[in-house]
Amino acid sequence: MAEETIEAMRESVAAQLRRSRERSMALTDAVDDDDLVRQHSKLMSPLVWDLAHIGNQEELWLVRDVGGREPVRRDIDELYDAFQHARASRPRLPLLTPVEARAYVREVRDKVFDVLDRVRLEGRPLLDNAFAFGMIAQHEQQHDETMLATHQLRTGPPVLAAAPPPPGRAGPAATEVLVPAGPFTMGTSTEPWALDNERPAHQTHVDAFFIDTTPVTNAAYAEFIAAGGYAQPRWWSEAGWDHRQKAGLTAPRFWQRDGDGWLRDQFGVVEPIRPNEPVVHVCFHEAAAYAAWAGRRLPTEAEWEKAARFDPDTGRSRRFPWGDEEPGAEHANLGQRHLGPAEVGAYPAGASPLGVHQLIGDVWEWTSSDFLPYPGFVAFPYREYSEVFFGPDYKVLRGGSFGTDPVACRGTFRNWDYPIRRQIFVGFRCARDASPDEKG
Ligand code: AVJ
Ligand code: FE
Repeated sequence: MAEETIEAMRESVAAQLRRSRERSMALTDAVDDDDLVRQHSKLMSPLVWDLAHIGNQEELWLVRDVGGREPVRRDIDELYDAFQHARASRPRLPLLTPVEARAYVREVRDKVFDVLDRVRLEGRPLLDNAFAFGMIAQHEQQHDETMLATHQLRTGPPVLAAAPPPPGRAGPAATEVLVPAGPFTMGTSTEPWALDNERPAHQTHVDAFFIDTTPVTNAAYAEFIAAGGYAQPRWWSEAGWDHRQKAGLTAPRFWQRDGDGWLRDQFGVVEPIRPNEPVVHVCFHEAAAYAAWAGRRLPTEAEWEKAARFDPDTGRSRRFPWGDEEPGAEHANLGQRHLGPAEVGAYPAGASPLGVHQLIGDVWEWTSSDFLPYPGFVAFPYREYSEVFFGPDYKVLRGGSFGTDPVACRGTFRNWDYPIRRQIFVGFRCARDASPDEKG
């Protein structure tokens, strides 16, 4: 590769690493030390665990493996191995203190910049396109979204602030669009920082279907509640109804009754729900029940990706709904620029060629699919990123949320979680089969 290209790559890697660190610091500096070591929910780690875990992953991959350097702290690997200790048990571990954790991530990062200056970015799959650095920037940003979810669960006065998202304008003209039958290219073999589960690119046949042009809104979801949706087992799967009863679900997480209406708590700000914003903090079972009530269903993962990437003019799959350019502020609500989803219709420049809006950003979207490997999957560079999670226990989420950084979001990106989870920034959109006379 040309010397200038390599230098440009080093520069862009350094910029990504700096950006992720600024966000980790902002999320942890926003609260005091007491708050950093506290567990705000059994579902989450103390923020100080995430911070040191970010540093430890960076040390393992970039200092020791890529850099071939001596360990900074070999003694703490076990504490920050997510497979050794469940989240609920992490506050009782002898964790680094906030002062120690900040010093640790700084020391690791200084070494990483030195490694980045000297390493030859070729000759190993881990180094091609600076993949290991991209993986670590994504890892930090993924934990930054997790830390944002921890902020959403903490109680007390607001400590985070951001500009409000753009308004919804008129919104898309149609409520649903037809995606024609036929094969499309799913996944990728060329996206340089795509993670193992997004690979390889492969042809997938999808039958004709309709998909909503926007995510389901708070107003639409409130109608489901008002129609007795949570009281009628016929809309719920057996597992869903069982969970609804055991967990006592009656509304999205963070909603509370206010006379006939609803209030929601968003990062400590309690205000009436905004009717035209996507609903957020519903579990898979709630999403599926809503869809059944509406006479519809959730899209499969392949349907979601075809709606997001397929260009009917060329037959090609794009990187993003709007094309191949990196996400800009006009395309999608990503990167914690705003502390909530934008109203539907707020991102016309981000729509797909078929007219589907807000597939990227705002809220993760539940799909009906289990998290499974693509044909030809190869675990890389470690089995514990994806492979150990494949199977029927997890459902796939697509598209990223307002809390997701662009470096960890693209048309092929796959997220997954248990079908009962609601603390993540997740909503959904509906789909339906096209009848024979609608297939066009
Ligand atoms: C892909 C979001 C499910 O947070 O559990 C972070 C990402 N993997 N550290 C998670 C991840 C290892 C992962 N998700
Ligand atoms: Fe992690």
